[in-house]
Amino acid sequence: MEDYKYLFKVVLIGNAGVGKTCLVRRFTQGVFPPGQGATIGVDFMIKTVEVDGLKIKLQIWDTAGQERFRSITQSYYRSAHALILVYDVSSQPSFDCLPHWLREVEEYASPKVLRVLVGNKTDREDRDIPAAIGEEFSRANSMYFIETSAKECENVDKLFHEIARDLIQTARSNDGQTNDSQQPTLLDGNKQQTWIDSHCCRT
Ligand code: GTP
Repeated sequence: MEDYKYLFKVVLIGNAGVGKTCLVRRFTQGVFPPGQGATIGVDFMIKTVEVDGLKIKLQIWDTAGQERFRSITQSYYRSAHALILVYDVSSQPSFDCLPHWLREVEEYASPKVLRVLVGNKTDREDRDIPAAIGEEFSRANSMYFIETSAKECENVDKLFHEIARDLIQTARSNDGQTNDSQQPTLLDGNKQQTWIDSHCCRT
Protein backbone atom coordinates (compact mmCIF):
# COMPACT_ATOMS: atom_id res chain seq x y z
CA MET A 1 0.00 0.00 0.00
CA GLU A 2 1.25 3.43 -0.90
CA ASP A 3 2.65 5.38 1.98
CA TYR A 4 0.61 8.50 2.56
CA LYS A 5 -1.27 9.93 5.47
CA TYR A 6 -4.22 11.56 3.74
CA LEU A 7 -5.77 11.56 0.29
CA PHE A 8 -7.51 14.77 -0.72
CA LYS A 9 -9.55 15.44 -3.81
CA VAL A 10 -9.15 18.91 -5.28
CA VAL A 11 -11.30 20.11 -8.19
CA LEU A 12 -10.57 23.12 -10.41
CA ILE A 13 -13.46 25.01 -11.98
CA GLY A 14 -13.90 28.30 -13.84
CA ASN A 15 -14.43 29.72 -17.30
CA ALA A 16 -12.74 28.23 -20.34
CA GLY A 17 -9.26 29.60 -20.93
CA VAL A 18 -8.53 30.95 -17.44
CA GLY A 19 -5.58 28.56 -17.07
CA LYS A 20 -6.87 25.63 -14.99
CA THR A 21 -4.98 23.00 -16.97
CA CYS A 22 -1.80 25.08 -16.97
CA LEU A 23 -1.99 25.47 -13.18
CA VAL A 24 -2.38 21.71 -12.75
CA ARG A 25 0.43 20.91 -15.15
CA ARG A 26 2.72 23.50 -13.63
CA PHE A 27 2.14 22.00 -10.19
CA THR A 28 2.20 18.31 -11.10
CA GLN A 29 4.77 18.29 -13.92
CA GLY A 30 6.64 21.58 -13.49
CA VAL A 31 5.88 22.72 -17.03
CA PHE A 32 3.94 25.50 -18.76
CA PRO A 33 2.62 23.65 -21.81
CA PRO A 34 2.84 25.58 -25.07
CA GLY A 35 -0.43 25.75 -27.00
CA GLN A 36 -2.48 24.06 -24.29
CA GLY A 37 -5.77 22.88 -25.87
CA ALA A 38 -9.18 23.06 -24.20
CA THR A 39 -10.00 20.31 -21.72
CA ILE A 40 -12.57 17.79 -22.92
CA GLY A 41 -14.80 16.82 -20.02
CA VAL A 42 -12.58 16.09 -17.04
CA ASP A 43 -8.97 15.12 -16.57
CA PHE A 44 -7.08 14.22 -13.42
CA MET A 45 -3.56 14.05 -12.09
CA ILE A 46 -2.05 12.89 -8.86
CA LYS A 47 0.76 14.41 -6.89
CA THR A 48 2.09 13.42 -3.51
CA VAL A 49 3.42 16.31 -1.46
CA GLU A 50 5.04 16.54 1.94
CA VAL A 51 3.51 19.09 4.26
CA ASP A 52 4.67 19.53 7.84
CA GLY A 53 6.38 16.13 7.68
CA LEU A 54 3.28 14.33 6.42
CA LYS A 55 2.90 12.70 3.02
CA ILE A 56 -0.30 13.88 1.39
CA LYS A 57 -1.71 12.56 -1.84
CA LEU A 58 -3.55 15.17 -3.90
CA GLN A 59 -5.95 13.91 -6.53
CA ILE A 60 -6.41 16.95 -8.75
CA TRP A 61 -9.39 17.08 -11.09
CA ASP A 62 -9.21 19.54 -13.96
CA THR A 63 -12.65 20.29 -15.39
CA ALA A 64 -13.55 21.78 -18.78
CA GLY A 65 -14.75 25.37 -18.59
CA GLN A 66 -16.88 25.08 -21.70
CA GLU A 67 -20.60 25.18 -21.07
CA ARG A 68 -21.27 22.01 -23.12
CA PHE A 69 -19.40 19.88 -20.56
CA ARG A 70 -21.16 21.36 -17.54
CA SER A 71 -23.36 18.36 -16.72
CA ILE A 72 -20.30 16.07 -16.70
CA THR A 73 -18.14 18.37 -14.60
CA GLN A 74 -20.82 19.09 -12.00
CA SER A 75 -20.84 15.44 -10.99
CA TYR A 76 -17.26 15.80 -9.74
CA TYR A 77 -18.08 18.53 -7.22
CA ARG A 78 -19.80 16.37 -4.64
CA SER A 79 -16.83 14.43 -3.33
CA ALA A 80 -14.32 17.29 -3.53
CA HIS A 81 -12.48 18.27 -0.37
CA ALA A 82 -11.41 21.54 -1.99
CA LEU A 83 -12.74 23.48 -4.95
CA ILE A 84 -10.46 25.95 -6.70
CA LEU A 85 -12.46 28.57 -8.57
CA VAL A 86 -10.16 30.20 -11.14
CA TYR A 87 -10.56 33.48 -13.03
CA ASP A 88 -8.15 35.30 -15.33
CA VAL A 89 -7.02 38.68 -13.95
CA SER A 90 -6.91 40.01 -17.52
CA SER A 91 -10.46 38.87 -18.34
CA GLN A 92 -13.39 40.80 -16.88
CA PRO A 93 -15.90 38.24 -18.23
CA SER A 94 -14.15 35.44 -16.33
CA PHE A 95 -14.48 37.49 -13.12
CA ASP A 96 -18.11 38.44 -13.86
CA CYS A 97 -18.97 34.73 -14.10
CA LEU A 98 -17.81 33.98 -10.54
CA PRO A 99 -21.30 34.36 -8.97
CA HIS A 100 -22.59 31.83 -11.50
CA TRP A 101 -19.82 29.37 -10.53
CA LEU A 102 -20.58 29.88 -6.85
CA ARG A 103 -24.22 29.06 -7.43
CA GLU A 104 -23.06 25.78 -8.98
CA VAL A 105 -20.85 25.11 -5.97
CA GLU A 106 -23.79 25.77 -3.63
CA GLU A 107 -25.92 23.38 -5.62
CA TYR A 108 -23.52 20.51 -6.27
CA ALA A 109 -20.68 20.55 -3.72
CA SER A 110 -20.60 19.56 -0.08
CA PRO A 111 -21.39 22.54 2.17
CA LYS A 112 -18.16 21.69 3.98
CA VAL A 113 -15.91 21.96 0.92
CA LEU A 114 -12.89 24.24 1.20
CA ARG A 115 -13.41 27.02 -1.35
CA VAL A 116 -10.47 28.82 -2.87
CA LEU A 117 -10.56 31.75 -5.29
CA VAL A 118 -7.59 32.05 -7.65
CA GLY A 119 -6.80 35.01 -9.91
CA ASN A 120 -4.47 33.54 -12.54
CA LYS A 121 -2.20 35.13 -15.20
CA THR A 122 -0.66 37.83 -12.98
CA ASP A 123 2.23 37.99 -15.47
CA ARG A 124 -0.01 39.69 -18.03
CA GLU A 125 0.39 43.42 -18.46
CA ASP A 126 -3.23 43.95 -19.50
CA ARG A 127 -4.68 43.19 -16.08
CA ASP A 128 -8.37 44.11 -15.71
CA ILE A 129 -9.06 42.94 -12.16
CA PRO A 130 -6.98 44.51 -9.37
CA ALA A 131 -5.97 42.12 -6.58
CA ALA A 132 -8.05 44.14 -4.10
CA ILE A 133 -11.22 43.43 -6.09
CA GLY A 134 -10.55 39.70 -6.12
CA GLU A 135 -9.78 39.78 -2.45
CA GLU A 136 -12.99 41.66 -1.68
CA PHE A 137 -15.01 39.09 -3.62
CA SER A 138 -13.35 36.25 -1.73
CA ARG A 139 -14.07 37.89 1.64
CA ALA A 140 -17.70 38.46 0.72
CA ASN A 141 -18.00 34.78 -0.17
CA SER A 142 -15.93 33.20 2.62
CA MET A 143 -13.20 31.91 0.37
CA TYR A 144 -9.45 31.78 0.52
CA PHE A 145 -7.80 34.00 -2.06
CA ILE A 146 -4.51 33.88 -3.92
CA GLU A 147 -3.21 35.23 -7.22
CA THR A 148 -1.03 33.03 -9.42
CA SER A 149 0.82 32.83 -12.69
CA ALA A 150 1.07 29.34 -14.14
CA LYS A 151 3.36 30.80 -16.77
CA GLU A 152 5.84 32.37 -14.34
CA CYS A 153 5.33 29.71 -11.69
CA GLU A 154 4.18 32.31 -9.19
CA ASN A 155 2.34 31.02 -6.10
CA VAL A 156 1.37 27.74 -7.77
CA ASP A 157 3.12 25.49 -5.24
CA LYS A 158 1.86 27.73 -2.45
CA LEU A 159 -1.70 27.36 -3.67
CA PHE A 160 -1.68 23.56 -3.45
CA HIS A 161 0.49 23.34 -0.34
CA GLU A 162 -1.74 25.73 1.56
CA ILE A 163 -4.79 23.75 0.52
CA ALA A 164 -3.11 20.56 1.74
CA ARG A 165 -2.12 22.27 4.99
CA ASP A 166 -5.64 23.48 5.63
CA LEU A 167 -7.18 20.11 4.79
CA ILE A 168 -4.73 18.37 7.11
CA GLN A 169 -5.73 20.63 9.98
CA THR A 170 -9.39 19.89 9.42
CA ALA A 171 -8.76 16.18 8.97
CA ARG A 172 -6.79 16.10 12.20
CA SER A 173 -9.56 17.81 14.07
CA ASN A 174 -11.95 15.23 12.60
CA ASP A 175 -9.68 12.28 13.32
CA GLY A 176 -11.65 11.38 16.41
CA GLN A 177 -14.56 10.62 14.09
CA THR A 178 -12.61 9.08 11.17
CA ASN A 179 -9.61 7.17 12.37
CA ASP A 180 -8.81 5.44 9.11
CA SER A 181 -6.10 7.70 7.76
CA GLN A 182 -6.34 6.24 4.25
CA GLN A 183 -9.88 7.51 3.84
CA PRO A 184 -10.72 11.00 2.61
CA THR A 185 -12.04 13.05 5.49
CA LEU A 186 -14.84 15.54 5.18
CA LEU A 187 -13.87 19.03 6.05
CA ASP A 188 -15.02 22.10 7.81
CA GLY A 189 -14.32 24.74 5.20
CA ASN A 190 -16.49 27.37 6.87
CA LYS A 191 -13.63 29.68 7.59
CA GLN A 192 -12.65 32.88 5.98
CA GLN A 193 -9.07 33.77 5.39
CA THR A 194 -7.13 35.53 2.71
CA TRP A 195 -3.76 33.98 2.07
CA ILE A 196 -2.56 37.27 0.64
CA ASP A 197 -2.82 38.64 4.17
CA SER A 198 -1.25 35.66 5.83
CA HIS A 199 1.45 33.06 5.54
CA CYS A 200 0.62 31.88 2.03
CA CYS A 201 1.87 34.89 0.21
CA ARG A 202 4.71 36.00 2.45
CA THR A 203 7.99 35.94 0.70
P1 GTP B 1 -10.48 24.93 -20.49
O1 GTP B 1 -9.80 23.61 -20.50
O2 GTP B 1 -11.07 25.28 -21.84
O3 GTP B 1 -11.49 25.06 -19.40
O4 GTP B 1 -9.32 26.07 -20.24
P2 GTP B 1 -8.34 26.17 -19.00
O5 GTP B 1 -8.94 27.02 -17.93
O6 GTP B 1 -7.86 24.83 -18.58
O7 GTP B 1 -7.14 27.03 -19.62
P3 GTP B 1 -5.73 26.48 -20.15
O8 GTP B 1 -4.90 25.99 -19.02
O9 GTP B 1 -5.97 25.57 -21.27
O10 GTP B 1 -5.07 27.84 -20.66
C1 GTP B 1 -5.75 28.68 -21.62
C2 GTP B 1 -4.73 29.65 -22.22
O11 GTP B 1 -4.23 30.53 -21.22
C3 GTP B 1 -3.52 28.97 -22.86
O12 GTP B 1 -3.21 29.65 -24.04
C4 GTP B 1 -2.42 29.17 -21.83
O13 GTP B 1 -1.15 29.25 -22.44
C5 GTP B 1 -2.81 30.50 -21.19
N1 GTP B 1 -2.38 30.61 -19.80
C6 GTP B 1 -2.62 29.74 -18.79
N2 GTP B 1 -2.07 30.16 -17.64
C7 GTP B 1 -1.44 31.34 -17.94
C8 GTP B 1 -0.66 32.27 -17.17
O14 GTP B 1 -0.42 32.13 -15.97
N3 GTP B 1 -0.21 33.38 -17.83
C9 GTP B 1 -0.45 33.61 -19.16
N4 GTP B 1 0.03 34.73 -19.70
N5 GTP B 1 -1.17 32.73 -19.91
C10 GTP B 1 -1.66 31.62 -19.31
